[in-house]
Amino acid sequence: MKVDGRHYRSIWYDTSDASVKIIDQRWLPHDFRIATLKSQLDFATAITDMWVRGAPLIGATAAYGVAMAMRDDSSDSSLDSCWSALHSTRPTAINLRWALDRCRQVLESVPVAGRAAAALELAHEISDEDIERNRQIGLHGLELIRALAANKPAKEPVRILTHCNAGWLATVDFGTATSPMFHAADAGIELHIWVDETRPRNQGALTAWELDGHGIPHSYITDNAGGHLMQHGQVDMVLLGSDRTSAGGDVCNKIGTYLKALAAFDNNVPFYVALPSSTIDWTVQDGLSGIPIEERPASEVTHVQGLQDNGSIGKVQVSPAGCTVGNPAFDVTPRKLVSGLITERGVSEATPEALRAMFPDLQVE
Ligand code: MRU
Repeated sequence: MKVDGRHYRSIWYDTSDASVKIIDQRWLPHDFRIATLKSQLDFATAITDMWVRGAPLIGATAAYGVAMAMRDDSSDSSLDSCWSALHSTRPTAINLRWALDRCRQVLESVPVAGRAAAALELAHEISDEDIERNRQIGLHGLELIRALAANKPAKEPVRILTHCNAGWLATVDFGTATSPMFHAADAGIELHIWVDETRPRNQGALTAWELDGHGIPHSYITDNAGGHLMQHGQVDMVLLGSDRTSAGGDVCNKIGTYLKALAAFDNNVPFYVALPSSTIDWTVQDGLSGIPIEERPASEVTHVQGLQDNGSIGKVQVSPAGCTVGNPAFDVTPRKLVSGLITERGVSEATPEALRAMFPDLQVE
């Protein structure tokens, strides 16, 4: 998408210095900075410390990490250790394992001398595929938004609530949940997006920044406001992303998603999840018991980062000194609360049968 009139992906290969460039998300929405990644350690740090984040982008970053590691040492042992080092960075988003498994599977059958070039090609391929999948998600989601708009008086916006950042910054481009919003806005449909702040990392600020860049009206709201808005008929649809969706249709996403789903269910608000097939874990049926939930550092809860009055970006402590903290980063929404899964192949019911029928070529036995 565009930033100051220039098109960016969230990650790209820079031929001028043979490095990988990322938008360093630690500083957004206050400062737009680009970081350079070269070594395997750079990539692992960028994923763990959330310079990059969002399930599909984590997968693409891991693929470029493998490519750079293969350039330094393309032996079998290097391939194995690189898989392990990158896999251990974050536990919940399945795109990480999906990308690493794909890299290992392809590269194992490539002679050592050709691995560096093949790995870089594969990272480009994974990134390009992600963009195309998200574009298709946007087109399918657009039809859902169009149907909601058709039932409203002219010029009244379709009001969509979203949680976390499932935007272009969380993918290579377009986003998952934001792709239908971008496509709808481009099609001239009036929108108003309720953007959950998403404590503790405030990824909603990234979503608001993206929507602002696309000229889409939105309101930045506290995480607890959504239920109230739904009770008062101010939300037409909930639309958000997923970090891992089970083969049974359960959706693991940013902490707080489950509460939004409960409120949507209670108020008859359609609850849609946008995800590329790379986010489906075909080895897990029951999301609640089968998906590991990442516990993030306590400092994310005790401290908040923001723009200070003197113009610098800094942190302040919001909790009492030394208090005990819990920081589960994701939760699981059972499939019974999900109206539909918007994938690159169309909108699927959140059931094992429907997912199997939509992706007969992908599931594992
Ligand atoms: O912890 P994060 O910021 O990596 O979590 C990201 C999310 O939960 C997104 O909503 C999810 O990855 C879907 S992104 C397309």
